[in-house]
Amino acid sequence: MEIKTVGVIGAGTMGNGIANVFARGAYDVILVDVEQRFLDRGLETIRKNLEREVAKEKITAAGRDAALTRIAPTVDRKRLGACDFIVEAASERFEIKSELFRELDQLCRPEVILASNTSSISITKLAATTQRPDRVIGMHFFNPVPVMKLVEVIRGLATSDETFATVKALAEKLEKSPVEVNDAPGFVSNRVLMPLLNEAMYAVMEGIATPQAVDDVFRLGMAHPMGPLTLADFIGLDVCLDIMRVMQTGLGDPKYRPCPLLIKMVDAGWLGRKSGRGFYQY
Ligand SMILES: NC(=O)c1ccc[n+]([C@@H]2O[C@H](COP(=O)([O-])OP(=O)(O)OC[C@H]3O[C@@H](n4cnc5c(N)ncnc54)[C@H](O)[C@@H]3O)[C@@H](O)[C@H]2O)c1
Repeated sequence: MEIKTVGVIGAGTMGNGIANVFARGAYDVILVDVEQRFLDRGLETIRKNLEREVAKEKITAAGRDAALTRIAPTVDRKRLGACDFIVEAASERFEIKSELFRELDQLCRPEVILASNTSSISITKLAATTQRPDRVIGMHFFNPVPVMKLVEVIRGLATSDETFATVKALAEKLEKSPVEVNDAPGFVSNRVLMPLLNEAMYAVMEGIATPQAVDDVFRLGMAHPMGPLTLADFIGLDVCLDIMRVMQTGLGDPKYRPCPLLIKMVDAGWLGRKSGRGFYQY
């Protein structure tokens, strides 16, 4: 089946980026959120990002206009029935995603692949809420989506080879670099990244170094573009804590215990850049 129309669910940070790259890749996009104001905000971000690309001469003004006209925003989820492929990028809560997957399973033609952009929820578990577990897969984009090359393609227990091959080819058409991983808490990206960030937090908590010094070690000694604590603030400390907890519960190994300083900061409402305070002040 040729994929022409893609449904993107959620117009937030990730959903608007995903809609943007599909529209630029000449796919028609049906962008769904629960309220018009979220769609308006998502479209405004897409417009600004495309504008930036025009200024950098990466796309033409005509390319920008064509991409924008390909995106159809709607709060009516039934319109997803017309899609040939779905990427779900709604909020990171199992109840929200499982309800969506159950509904998508009813709405979409049986051959349509349902992909999730989840950072940590089990693809196998989401797949089990549908009658098509072989056509459910993780398509994990990275923030900011139009810039970052990686797509982690996550195979649930029942994901078929055909589904995997379709999603891999689709990512390549979007000029992304797909990497195959199996379903496990945190996949590969967060399984390896989050313990680094968590350990950097222990170094601060134990008074080994200041946040700035920890970050300098990684920027200057390991050529990381930003240090682990700057990155944790950027991701959101609440998000980091949620992912550590998913790995702690899912893997059962005490090495995934969230740093007590992280828990305390989240309790205080210090969530990083988005709240104005984290390891740094913004
Ligand atoms: N932010 C990141 O850096 C990042 C990176 C990779 C993956 N992810 C994953 O992407 C997904 C989205 O994250 P985000 O950062 O874009 O979140 P966000 O909060 O910016 O956006 C989520 C959007 O989903 C909408 N939504 C919630 N329930 C919905 C429903 N039932 N139907 C339609 N829309 C609904 C919300 O209104 C919101 O606009 C999550 O699964 C997250 O784990 C996030």
